[in-house]
Amino acid sequence: MAVPSGFVGTMVVILFGVVVLSGVVVPGVEAKSRAFFVFGDSLVDSGNNNYLATTARADSPPYGIDYPSRKPTGRFSNGRNIPDLISEGMGGESVLPYLSPQLKGDNLLNGANFASAGIGILNDTGAQFLNIIRMYRQLDYFEEYQQRVSILIGVGRAKKLVNQALVLITVGGNDFVNNYYLVPYSARSRQFSLQDYVKYLIVEYRKLLMRLYDLGARRVLVTGTGPMGCVPAELAMRGTNGGCSAELQRAASLYNPQLQHMIQGLNKKIGKDVFIAANTARMHNDFVNNPAAYGFTTSRIACCGQGPYNGIGLCTPLSNLCPNRNLHAFWDPFHPTEKANRIIVEQIMSGSKRYMKPMNLSTVLALDATK
Ligand SMILES: *[C@@H]1O[C@H](CO)[C@@H](O)[C@H](O)[C@H]1NC(C)=O
Ligand SMILES: *[C@@H]1O[C@H](CO)[C@@H](O)[C@H](O)[C@H]1NC(C)=O
Repeated sequence: MAVPSGFVGTMVVILFGVVVLSGVVVPGVEAKSRAFFVFGDSLVDSGNNNYLATTARADSPPYGIDYPSRKPTGRFSNGRNIPDLISEGMGGESVLPYLSPQLKGDNLLNGANFASAGIGILNDTGAQFLNIIRMYRQLDYFEEYQQRVSILIGVGRAKKLVNQALVLITVGGNDFVNNYYLVPYSARSRQFSLQDYVKYLIVEYRKLLMRLYDLGARRVLVTGTGPMGCVPAELAMRGTNGGCSAELQRAASLYNPQLQHMIQGLNKKIGKDVFIAANTARMHNDFVNNPAAYGFTTSRIACCGQGPYNGIGLCTPLSNLCPNRNLHAFWDPFHPTEKANRIIVEQIMSGSKRYMKPMNLSTVLALDATK
C-alpha cells in the first residue's frame, strides 16, 4: 500500500521541527558569564558537606543567619562566603556545590564548587571528620564534571569553558590546625620539624596545582592561610598572655612566603600568569591588628561560640550569639564574618601588589575580556 502523501508530509515537518528545535537548544545552553570553579576547605565550602556523613558541617542555625534566605546552607559564615562575593564581583550568581542535586543541565555551565570543610593538602588532614572530599577527590570530580559538560555542549566547547573560567583554591590551614597541631605529639609533628613539614606541604600543593593546570584551569586564584594563631579558637586554646599563638603564627609566616615563591616558579615554568597569589594573611592582619579602622569592635571575640573569646567548641544553636555581626571580624572560632569576607574580596579585586601577585582580579578580568 502506498503511504498517503499527507503522512510523509507530516513526518517531514516533525523531523524538520526536531532539527530546528535542537538548533535552537544548543545556543540556548550558553553560559551567562564566565564559569567559576572553587576548590578547598571550609573557608570556601558552599554546602558540599551537607550531603556527606561528616561532623564538619554548618547546616544548623545560627549559620546563615544573614544569608539572603536567613537559613543555614552549609557555608561557614553568618552570610556570604568568599566565593559568593567573588561571583558577585564578576556579576554572576553563586555557583552551586558539586554534590547539589540542582547542579545539572544549564546550571552546570556556571561552574561548580568542589570544596569540602575539613580537608587539607594532605590526605590524612581532617581524618577526624570522616567522610569529606579530599583534594585529589575534588580534582577527580572536576574531571567528571568536564565529562558531564562535554555531553551537554560537546568536548570542544566544554574545554573552552574550562580554559576561560576563573578558579579559586583555598587550602592549607587545616594541615596545621587539624593535623600537625591538632594534638600534642601528633604523628606529623613527630615525623617532621615545622620547617620540613612546610616544605613537604608546598611540594604536595604544587602537584595539586599542576593537576589543576593539566585539567585545563588557566586562571587560578590561590590564597594563603590567614593569621592562624590569632583566630578565636587559638586565642582560647594556646594564646600566650591573651596574644596570638606564637607557634601557629610562626607556621603561617613560614608557609605563606614559600607558597608565593612556589606559585611564581610555576608561572615561570608555564610561561604565563596562570596562578595568582592572594596574600590573605596580610588582608586578615590589617583588620586583626586594627579592627576599628575597618568598623569592627573586635577581631578577637567570635560572634558565635562559648568560652574565652567564644573560641571553644563549635557554633551551635545553644552558643552565645552577638546581635550585630558587622561588628565582629570572626563569626565562629575559625571563620570570618561576611563583613570580613567582603574586606578580603575587595583586596582580591583591587588590591595593590602587596596583596595580589602578579596582579589583582579586576586587572585579570579586564585582561581576559580583551582576548
Ligand atoms: C592521596 O590519596 C590519593 C588516592 O589514594 C593518592 O593518589 C594521592 O597521591 C594521595 N596524596 C598524598 C599527598 O599522599
Ligand atoms: C588593581 O585594581 C585597580 C582597579 O580596581 C587598578 O586601578 C589598580 O591599578 C590595580 N592594582 C594593581 C597593582 O594591579
